[in-house]
Amino acid sequence: MCGIIGYNGKEDAIPIVIDGLKSLEYRGYDSSGIAYFWNEKIKVVKEKGRISELEKIIDKEDKPTLAIGHTRWATHGKPSRVNSHPHSVGKVTIVHNGIIENYASLKEDLISKGYKFLSETDTEVAAAMIDYLYKEEKNKLKVLEKLEEVLEGSYALLILFEDEEDMIYAIRKGSPLIVAKSEIGNLVASDIPAILDYTKDYYLLDEGEIAVVSKKDIKFYQEDKEIEKELLTFKFDAGSAKKEGFKHFMLKEIYEQPRVIKNYLDHYLNNMDLIPDLSLYEKIHIVACGSAYHAGLIGNYLFSEYGDIEASCYVASEYRYQKNFIDDKTLVILISQSGETADTIASLRLAKERGAKTLGIVNVVGSTIARESDQVIYINAGCEIAVATTKAYTLQVLTLSLCAYKLGITKGKIDNKLAKELKDAYYNLPLEIEEILKLDYKKYAVKIAKSKSAFFIGRLLDYCICEEGSLKLKEISYIHSETYPAGELKHGTISLIEKNTPVIAVITDPKIALKTISNIKETRARGAYTLILKTKDIEVSEDIYDDVIEIETLNDLVSSILTIVPLQMLAYHVADSLGYDIDKPRNLAKSVTVE
Ligand code: AGP
Repeated sequence: MCGIIGYNGKEDAIPIVIDGLKSLEYRGYDSSGIAYFWNEKIKVVKEKGRISELEKIIDKEDKPTLAIGHTRWATHGKPSRVNSHPHSVGKVTIVHNGIIENYASLKEDLISKGYKFLSETDTEVAAAMIDYLYKEEKNKLKVLEKLEEVLEGSYALLILFEDEEDMIYAIRKGSPLIVAKSEIGNLVASDIPAILDYTKDYYLLDEGEIAVVSKKDIKFYQEDKEIEKELLTFKFDAGSAKKEGFKHFMLKEIYEQPRVIKNYLDHYLNNMDLIPDLSLYEKIHIVACGSAYHAGLIGNYLFSEYGDIEASCYVASEYRYQKNFIDDKTLVILISQSGETADTIASLRLAKERGAKTLGIVNVVGSTIARESDQVIYINAGCEIAVATTKAYTLQVLTLSLCAYKLGITKGKIDNKLAKELKDAYYNLPLEIEEILKLDYKKYAVKIAKSKSAFFIGRLLDYCICEEGSLKLKEISYIHSETYPAGELKHGTISLIEKNTPVIAVITDPKIALKTISNIKETRARGAYTLILKTKDIEVSEDIYDDVIEIETLNDLVSSILTIVPLQMLAYHVADSLGYDIDKPRNLAKSVTVE
């Protein structure tokens, strides 16, 4: 997902915008650029590759006090200087996050009107459209209001008009933008980390709203009228956007889990009224992408186990197009760290159209999913910078676990004695995680790092945990990794097991432990390197595994949060041993705001 930052104030804008772009690097990018007024013209400097490449080609003599910057995660057109943002057409220069879905037809029409295009991007077409409308309309606010009708798709835009040197215009539809006042001047950005060095107070632009950012103030407009906006405050410290001595944000965020889980439990476990009563519904659909989907798989299992309720979990990009049986007795739960994932937003809107109640489990306050869901539970993970999610995932699982816990009590599946035991186990979770973090994972990582592929196997809840463990490994170490229900491996994939092929097996459920153990034997008999992650109560003879990691035996409402931590650490140390850019894995973005 692209990163956007604009500054308008009294200081030298270039270092402020460059630092802002660096704080947004975690979103994933392949090129960057900056635009500012200089010698009465808009100067655009942009380059493929890292921001450091851009810094090399900026003229050190240039000292503007207004600038806009962009990190591009390529959607239309390969990573290249010409496709990088900002894009200038006529009197208009813009940076953009999102996708203009009707750009091809607009481009054709603009070419017939005499426009020429240098890049393959949808953004350059948007710039030309704004320039064209401005020539026709002359009133900038009216031009921006008109974009809603003309541009299909999603956009967060910062716009400079050549005839207005000291103003930044901003508008959003479907992609987030925040606007902030600070002592050094006014800022507009795609996300919080870009402004945290200057202020924690910000405004969240809503759909279709326009911000006009001058040096002295910020004005907001909707449908041609000036509006007032609520000032929000980011409640975590600025440090949460810094590594604070850790080698990578991902490692820092893994180690933050005990603290953020403790804070979460202090907030919610003592105020269970804040947790929705799922017993009001006949059916539950859980919809998400990536790791959030894997968290949903666990929620799905726990709701069925403890709530005797029909629950199903769907990948959002499928859910939104397939036939679904949604009615007013259905609760649709949307899980999303960013709250801006396009397919999850589309599923939310579909569910509401069909009359379902919607619950958002979200990290970013005020994000689209948070604002459009009927009810929202904020997981309060703080800024999660690493593309590979860890603390947000565990808090998503914890939220679902508490929903199942409350549901179980409401439905009488959890009696007072068990409820008390579970409450103690929840409160003990941060300490259990701290113990697990002390283990040495490097000795396992070196045995996996050189592999071409790896397999994760487990059954029922353990299978769900394997899905997330496998994604963690592949997204940061680039080792091809697959997850299989343990009983499924022999129906084909076991043909891929060769000498030293890593097979990571998760066993926390004594009911099916012996079954998974025999599956491990099958892989070991074919030369696999077997690493077992199990709870202490489960006996496994030493001759069926190469290595074993043991965790405390806990009820699965609690172990479902604990068990992933060793797999997070394993993935981290494999990728670190390979020397990869763990916080910014190739091709990935922190939040996929495009379809
Ligand atoms: C997981 O490590 C990835 N960052 C990715 O799968 C992510 O979980 C997915 O894109 C969903 O993002 P969201 O939670 O912001 O909706």
